[in-house]
Amino acid sequence: MSLSLLLLPLLLAIPAPPPALAQAAAANNISSFSSSDSPWGPGQDRILLSPNAVFAAGFQPLLPNASALFTFSVWYHGLSPLTVVWSANAGSPVNASASLVVTRGGQLFLNSSGVNRWGTNATAAGNSSVLSLRDDGDLVFGASWGSFRFPGDTFLPSQPMNETKLFSKNGRFSFDSASLLFNGTEAYWTAGGNNFLNLDDKGMISQENGQSILSADFGDAVPRRLTLADDGNLRLFSYSQGQWTMVWQAMPELCKIHGLCGRNSICMSDGANATYCVCPPGFRSSAPGNYECERKIPVARPQSAKFLRLDFVNFTGGLNQTNQQATNYSDCLSKCLSASSNCEGFMFNYDGTGRCVLQLGQLLYGYWSPGTDTANAMFLMVDQSETDESNFTGLTTVLETTCPINVTLPFPPDESNATTRNIVIICTLFAAELITGMAFFSAFLKKYIKYRNMAQTLGLELLPAGGPKRFTLAEIKAATKGFSDQIGRGGFGDVYKGELNDKRVVAVKCLKNVAGGDAEFWAEVTIIARMHHLNLVRLWGFCAEKGQRILVYEYVPNGSLDKFLFRSGRPAELGGETGEVADNQKPTLDWGVRYRIALGVARAIAYLHEECLEWVLHCDIKPENILLGDDFCPKISDFGLAKLRKKEDMVSMSRIRGTRGYMAPEWAKTDQITPKADVYSFGMVLLEIVSGVRNFEMQGSLLDSEDWYFPGWAFDKAFKEMKVEDILDRQIKHAYDDRVHFKLVDRMVKTAMWCLQDRPELRPSMGKVAKMLEGTVEIMEPRKPTIFYLGDD
Ligand SMILES: *[C@@H]1O[C@H](CO)[C@@H](O)[C@H](O)[C@H]1NC(C)=O
Ligand SMILES: *[C@@H]1O[C@H](CO)[C@@H](O)[C@H](O)[C@H]1NC(C)=O
Ligand SMILES: *[C@@H]1O[C@H](CO)[C@@H](O)[C@H](O)[C@H]1NC(C)=O
Ligand SMILES: *[C@@H]1O[C@H](CO)[C@@H](O)[C@H](O)[C@H]1NC(C)=O
Ligand SMILES: *[C@@H]1O[C@H](CO)[C@@H](O)[C@H](O)[C@H]1NC(C)=O
Ligand SMILES: *[C@@H]1O[C@H](CO)[C@@H](O)[C@H](O)[C@H]1NC(C)=O
Repeated sequence: MSLSLLLLPLLLAIPAPPPALAQAAAANNISSFSSSDSPWGPGQDRILLSPNAVFAAGFQPLLPNASALFTFSVWYHGLSPLTVVWSANAGSPVNASASLVVTRGGQLFLNSSGVNRWGTNATAAGNSSVLSLRDDGDLVFGASWGSFRFPGDTFLPSQPMNETKLFSKNGRFSFDSASLLFNGTEAYWTAGGNNFLNLDDKGMISQENGQSILSADFGDAVPRRLTLADDGNLRLFSYSQGQWTMVWQAMPELCKIHGLCGRNSICMSDGANATYCVCPPGFRSSAPGNYECERKIPVARPQSAKFLRLDFVNFTGGLNQTNQQATNYSDCLSKCLSASSNCEGFMFNYDGTGRCVLQLGQLLYGYWSPGTDTANAMFLMVDQSETDESNFTGLTTVLETTCPINVTLPFPPDESNATTRNIVIICTLFAAELITGMAFFSAFLKKYIKYRNMAQTLGLELLPAGGPKRFTLAEIKAATKGFSDQIGRGGFGDVYKGELNDKRVVAVKCLKNVAGGDAEFWAEVTIIARMHHLNLVRLWGFCAEKGQRILVYEYVPNGSLDKFLFRSGRPAELGGETGEVADNQKPTLDWGVRYRIALGVARAIAYLHEECLEWVLHCDIKPENILLGDDFCPKISDFGLAKLRKKEDMVSMSRIRGTRGYMAPEWAKTDQITPKADVYSFGMVLLEIVSGVRNFEMQGSLLDSEDWYFPGWAFDKAFKEMKVEDILDRQIKHAYDDRVHFKLVDRMVKTAMWCLQDRPELRPSMGKVAKMLEGTVEIMEPRKPTIFYLGDD
């Protein structure tokens, strides 16, 4: 005891005082460093401050707590925890006896036993050889050398990003302002052709072509940094309330980063911020450090090959990956067996695109992601004698909770008549059934009939394969018989029903008030058309002629959700697609269907938010924009259209966009609108799905009372009074069976409450919402939603 007390002062004295202490000693702050101040060693309590005192430079221990090794670094001054943003010698730290000198020849020399450890050549002529730190954090020496030109793993606000590269500390990942790369070559994320230019302190990343990315907290001038971490993810952080918070990231799903796991290995995520690698069945670890796997039993191809199905597994690397179109599963399988080079397996997608990806030569960059748009499975080739079974399962359950059509969409053969097409379709459906393990013969017979009818009604035979088609105005006029059959009047324009030459039935939307020229419109439409999800209305084509802006969508037969939910008899006052069937003839949606609608919508929004390059905000989620297809498969309409008007008001995104009652509280403030605004609107819709009433109506009368807030009322009923029955839709209340439906309804109500939190940051992300509804994550007890603000437009 007494001994350690004695030692304590000694320990503090060697070898160098912690920099925090050094910062306190203002006397040792310098504003420039030149040959007359040389040498400068780690032992000196000296830091170089920028004039605004936001940044500091000097020696820092390599490890946060006392270390024998040092780097000469730049950090945010006075922020805790210490945040180093640049180092001169990150890869080759020096010991306590090293020193920084400005030589007589005008060179910056980090002298470690005579060797210069300063990472780049920094020389300056004559009397300008002075090292100083600018207000933006650029450490400059002389007229031409500046640390901004040699970034490490971090970009600071105002630092130019093009023509330089970021490297993660471990050197495995880099960012060249256009894409994120593993090992210098393997791109796993791109900025979509719009290279990053710079970041500002308000949180906007400017890109080429006038594009930009806004952080979740856009607007406040706070310390920020864009950092490429050792896990390969590029993240934007901002500093407030004593900590760094992530406000944007390139890769929401870490496992999609290349190189986290080695050959044949599969990356898995724990759902938080950690990943790990596992070997697929039939494989064992071969190089534990590199997370590589090898086959346990070599396959004698093709005679003794069999395939194991790995649900939700995608291998994205391998130089010889080939994308093919297959009519069905067996077609894809035989392509793999007959491939000229070694086929290790193949991926097949049940979403109807017929996508068949052969894995030739090697299996690389595999990941498991039970994501939001997944009808995808990997079929891994193993030897007949292999006894391992696949433990990557779950696809069957997903297919059961999604719309049935997704299992069954076939790819149309090029040239064939309707009969052979039907046969192909039916065989595909059967094959799909077989491998999803749901098939036996009698069931098949029943489904045969069902699928045949379904294929006919949906016109599946005629699904197009490519991008959006450009229609002429004449074609559109012919298809809609001169815009004669109006079926809706939405916020974006009028909608007409039509039929194309190839007999496809379409909904034609004539847009109003679209900003920008033809090229811009085309670019946006192409992006919208690229968004494929079972629960998004499919965009088939467009027309931009004579000032007209027309979108051609698949026709969704059952009309919009509001027609089924609300039957007040009073016409809805909100704009939406008008259905054709009279309200009282519409069937009542049962609990199972309501749940499936909620889940489908959640998955589609999550897809928009998380899978697309930029966050695509819908901004107008309401029952009118949820269309119901065959079998009441929900399909969101009007997504991506907010972008067409983006230019007018990118930052403030005018209030007119949303619809009263569904708009998140932050719309009423000037806060930047984030994906969490959609989460709020979804929460409101979810509550309406459960209750069958409009959130601003109660018992047929419009309640305009200041105190009335539907979510708060529903919360009290469900969680305080414990009378969840009171909020259930009266039309099907009688069908509510506590034992059967409690879990389902409880999940929907709890999820809705989380979505409806007034503070955006308390709401879960849409991906999480989908998982909460699925029941794959635990839902904590929600807090009561309150309003502090409501828009009054
Ligand atoms: C570097 O340090 C060594 C002693 O360790 C000294 O001899 C040498 O002159 C120094 N070089 C410079 C450029 O200061
Ligand atoms: C630095 O050198 C330039 C010319 O090379 C001269 O004009 C200037 O006066 C010098 N400044 C000082 C402070 O010596
Ligand atoms: C990185 O690339 C080099 C060739 O450019 C290659 O030899 C090496 O195997 C690659 N490393 C990994 C982990 O893929
Ligand atoms: C598999 O990953 C690749 C590359 O990220 C992606 O393009 C493809 O869509 C993925 N396939 C599926 C079915 O998710
Ligand atoms: C990929 O294909 C090229 C030529 O098609 C071939 O030279 C190469 O060996 C193949 N690589 C692997 C890993 O199969
Ligand atoms: C499958 O089994 C392997 C080996 O036991 C394990 O490491 C892996 O996590 C399992 N995968 C899943 C999806 O559970």
